[in-house]
Amino acid sequence: MSQDEDGSQQELEIRQINSDDNTKSLSLGDPEFTPLKAFLKNEAADFHRRNVAKSYVAVDESHRVRGYITLICSQVQIAQAHHRPEGNKGPIAYKSLPSIKVARLATDKRYQGSGLGRSLLDLALAIALGDIMPAVGCRFLVVDAKKPSVGFYLKYGFTPIQENYEDEDSPVLFLDLHPFV
Ligand SMILES: CC(C)(COP(=O)(O)OP(=O)(O)OC[C@H]1O[C@@H](n2cnc3c(N)ncnc32)[C@H](O)[C@@H]1OP(=O)(O)O)[C@@H](O)C(=O)NCCC(=O)NCCS
Repeated sequence: MSQDEDGSQQELEIRQINSDDNTKSLSLGDPEFTPLKAFLKNEAADFHRRNVAKSYVAVDESHRVRGYITLICSQVQIAQAHHRPEGNKGPIAYKSLPSIKVARLATDKRYQGSGLGRSLLDLALAIALGDIMPAVGCRFLVVDAKKPSVGFYLKYGFTPIQENYEDEDSPVLFLDLHPFV
């Protein structure tokens, strides 16, 4: 998928995390992202096993994790939303609607810009549409975005829930899944 630090081509496989994966070598650069590194290294496999949060990793041939996404159940609070998601009108005007949250998403800095982040979001979308929505009420993908990544989510098609989202530390963005089904 991209070049590794030694210049060799590394094919990446995306699949569920397992406890043998090398979760220590993810490099995100900015210290702001240390919690994303620490979660992968210390908690992701354990949370996965205990059904607290499910993580999907992009691994190279040596099982080094070069990117990951973590998904959990959630809901979108729409009571104060300036953008009221379509389908929340009339007798079923709930204050919140069921969602899947992108709880964590990160790609190794050596792989950023190669489409890996998009591939990981594509997987979340496929899981939502193929596995969850046919069986369980679920309307949105949602994320509490880190500020520098807002442009990435906007490009993918997410909508900010707050009008003044640029002032927020972690703006909430959502993707309506209903049009995809
Ligand atoms: C945000 C992040 C996951 C994006 O991953 P990535 O692998 O670089 O993204 P991709 O290469 O798949 O990019 C897909 C598209 O979004 C664009 N894009 C990527 N990051 C962007 C950003 N921060 N702002 C605007 N556009 C961005 C790319 O240019 C690409 O556009 P294209 O379709 O025209 O080629 C990655 O930069 C990252 O891990 N950042 C640090 C941790 C972080 O902020 N995580 C998000 C937590 S909410």
